[in-house]
This record gives sequence, structure tokens and C-alpha cells, in this order.
Amino acid sequence: MAECRQWEQITDGQFIISKPIRKLLWIQSRGVFLIAENNNKIIGTTGNTTQPWRKSHIGEFGIAIRNGYRGIGLGSYLTNEIIKLAKKELKPKPKIIRLSVSPDNKPAIGLYRKLGFKKVAAIPKQIQYKGKLLNEIIMLLDMTRTIT
Ligand SMILES: CC(C)(COP(=O)(O)OP(=O)(O)OC[C@H]1O[C@@H](n2cnc3c(N)ncnc32)[C@H](O)[C@@H]1OP(=O)(O)O)[C@@H](O)C(=O)NCCC(=O)NCCS
Repeated sequence: MAECRQWEQITDGQFIISKPIRKLLWIQSRGVFLIAENNNKIIGTTGNTTQPWRKSHIGEFGIAIRNGYRGIGLGSYLTNEIIKLAKKELKPKPKIIRLSVSPDNKPAIGLYRKLGFKKVAAIPKQIQYKGKLLNEIIMLLDMTRTIT
């Protein structure tokens, strides 16, 4: 696998965003990632990775905001930014952004709905949590319908 990585910093309001631009020759390792820093502390991370071959049109999305920095719009901001980055950097461009979430994760489901993700499936007993087996909710964002 050959890889080259370049870091770039964008100041945006109170957040400093570090953007790794990954250029991988190994097709299975493509992805874009964002890290939000505040006072030299990582306060949020997000990423979008693609799979090879017949699933190369799907970007798999993930996000986490540090406790104490939630509910101030950072999750929305990073999600919008990573989607823009995925469209710009990933080849082929993702046609669908896919994520999975636990049904009890109300903040995450609220964020995803607000940004246009639609629930398409609930797979039973996929997540172990506090002695229970929870469904895994699958949500999709159809990139062929988004404007950004
Ligand atoms: C889910 C998460 C990423 C949301 O990020 P955030 O920065 O708090 O989200 P924002 O402040 O941008 O809020 C965006 C929307 O999310 C929803 N939301 C956020 N916090 C919420 C809460 N406590 N309860 C219900 N909805 C909430 C709302 O719809 C909100 O829109 P609004 O402000 O217009 O009402 C964050 O809570 C987190 O990192 N959680 C732990 C890790 C995690 O669960 N990751 C996702 C795994 S699938």
C-alpha cells in the first residue's frame, strides 16, 4: 500500500479543523476524516470511508463529539463538512452516505434526521448494551438528491 498524507488547517470561528487528505493507492483504504480541535484538545472527529467494487458508491459515515461540546452545533457542522469533503475528494464520488445507529441514541438520530438521512432498516439484536440486545438502525443520505 502506498500512502501520502497532507495536513491542512482551516480556522472557522472558534474551531480549528485539521483535514487529513489521504491519497491511497490501495483502493480498500479510501476515506476522508476531520478532527476538530479547541485549545489543543480534540473535541470532535468524523470520517467517511468507501468500500471497494460493487459498494464503492457507498460512503460509510461515523462521528463523535467530546462530552461538554455537544449541543452547540459542532456535530451538524462536522457532518456537513465531511459530506462536502467526501464529494470533493473520494473517487468515485459517493452516491449514498450510510450509517448505523442504536435506536436509543436520540441525539444522533435527531442530528441525522435534521440533515436529511432517512431510516431504511432496523436489524434485530445487533447491538449489545447494558445486558440487552438492541436493533441496529440503518440510515441513508441520498447524495443524488442533495444540493451541496
Ligand atoms: C450525536 C452527536 C454526534 C450530536 O452532535 P452535537 O454536536 O451534539 O449535535 P448538534 O449540536 O449539531 O445538534 C444537531 C441536532 O441533533 C439533535 N440533538 C442534539 N443533541 C440532542 C439531544 N440531547 N437530544 C435530542 N436531540 C439532540 C437535534 O436535532 C439537533 O438539532 P437542533 O439543535 O436544531 O435541535 C453527539 O451527541 C455525540 O458525539 N454523541 C456521542 C457519540 C455518538 O453517539 N455518535 C454517533 C454514533 S451513531
